Amino acid sequence: LQMMQWLDCQPKVELHLHIEGTLEPEFMMSLAKKHQVNLPCTTMQEVKEAYNFNNLQSFLDLYYLGASVLRDEEDFYQLMWRYLLKCKEQNIVHCELMFDPQTHTERGVEFAVFMTGFKRAIAQAKKEWGQSCYLIMSFLRHLSEDSAIQTLQQAQPFYDDFIAVGLDSGELGNPPEKFQRVFQQAKELGFKRVAHAGEEGPPEYIWSAIKTLDVARVDHGVRSIEDEKLIDFLIESQLPLTVCPLSNIKLKVFSDMQQHNILQLLERGLLVTVNADDPSYFGGYLNENFYSLIDSLSIQQTHLRQLVRNGFIASFLPQEIKEYWL
Ligand code: ADE
Ligand code: ZN
Repeated sequence: LQMMQWLDCQPKVELHLHIEGTLEPEFMMSLAKKHQVNLPCTTMQEVKEAYNFNNLQSFLDLYYLGASVLRDEEDFYQLMWRYLLKCKEQNIVHCELMFDPQTHTERGVEFAVFMTGFKRAIAQAKKEWGQSCYLIMSFLRHLSEDSAIQTLQQAQPFYDDFIAVGLDSGELGNPPEKFQRVFQQAKELGFKRVAHAGEEGPPEYIWSAIKTLDVARVDHGVRSIEDEKLIDFLIESQLPLTVCPLSNIKLKVFSDMQQHNILQLLERGLLVTVNADDPSYFGGYLNENFYSLIDSLSIQQTHLRQLVRNGFIASFLPQEIKEYWL
């Protein structure tokens, strides 16, 4: 209980969260009504039952379906605004949020629609309580590299509004090297790079994200534990992993929280952080992810302190701001 209270009050950062994954069921249903979208679930009970996933793909199918209710600028503003209020509530002083343009452009929603909505909410939260928020534009890896290149081009009017590019969606069969050219282009444009790797995919995908995409962080990366050379590299380089405990359990990456390897990775000296991924689908925001570790692992106050600290270290904040929080 003491650890939980300490955690609630502690300033924290969120580094791995998909804004489309914060769409709460009630909000989803109200938007479905507003835009007359037919969803297969019509009651809260049905929605909750549908949120039983077998793996990453079974979640993604529902996640893309859910996102289809987001249509106009106000929807995207509301989505972002509701999450930023959550940051205030949970003492998340800085967040780096992924958004998936192709989830929206593929169904005819233009870049300006979601970007204008997101930017309005971010500016308002910054003005009202000083919220710090960076955006990461993520490519869908189940689509082609040409589609990712086109997305990078479409984003041009908004190059000042995101700090990095990312890579998400179905991992198996879509290795990082498939996106080498578009990541090289993003690098030349001055963007930092992150990629999901080693969530469901093997350690080779983590190596590839590091070597062919030159990432500054690996999202998930929990399967690194299967490759001793990779573990050594991650310790030596202090390349951060953004781990998402509740997500890993919901998507059956680990059978239960007692089996989660985050504490092992931390104790071996990897720069691991705790994050929420898709909180409305996985049952909790950042604090709840920490609580789940407190409940299930033999975690000490010093571990918690290090995990919170690692978040700041792994962030893209300028050095002087990091130092202020550390
Ligand atoms: N998109 C949203 N959440 C994701 C996850 N956990 N892995 C891959 N793609 C995602
Ligand atoms: Zn993710």
